[in-house]
Amino acid sequence: MLIDHHEIPQVDMDFMNEVHKEDVDIINNIFEHILKYDGSDESATAIDKLYKEWIEHTVIHFQNEEIKMQEMRFPPYLAHKGEHDRALQEMRNLFSHWQQKRDIQALKIYFIETLPAWLQTHISTMDTVTARFFATGQSPCGGGVC
Ligand SMILES: [Fe+2]
Ligand SMILES: [Fe+2]
Repeated sequence: MLIDHHEIPQVDMDFMNEVHKEDVDIINNIFEHILKYDGSDESATAIDKLYKEWIEHTVIHFQNEEIKMQEMRFPPYLAHKGEHDRALQEMRNLFSHWQQKRDIQALKIYFIETLPAWLQTHISTMDTVTARFFATGQSPCGGGVC
């Protein structure tokens, strides 16, 4: 297992915790397939299928947070959305690199060195303050920060 559910902080919104749990399950499953990769077409296409599902899941994950941020006029909406866009682009770039080169090392490096730290940081900072705002109306902006 790459990411333990306990490493992911709970935020003040259940719909977000639910989707984060699904995300961790998908990531762990892809990582299992990365470790089992044997260079065959079958094992490459198994990774392709899961990775595509992960991108689709992430698009919905991010969109649902963004829709609610806009509905509730979350002041630092653009900062949070900007981080979603950047992360999604990184996932998509790696996927096209993988599809062109079948470079399993690049997948391993990203899944081990980049992804768990990013997810942990994103959820414990941006998602946490955003969920608190959704739940309580308490804005992280004060003293002209936003
Ligand atoms: Fe999230
Ligand atoms: Fe987010």
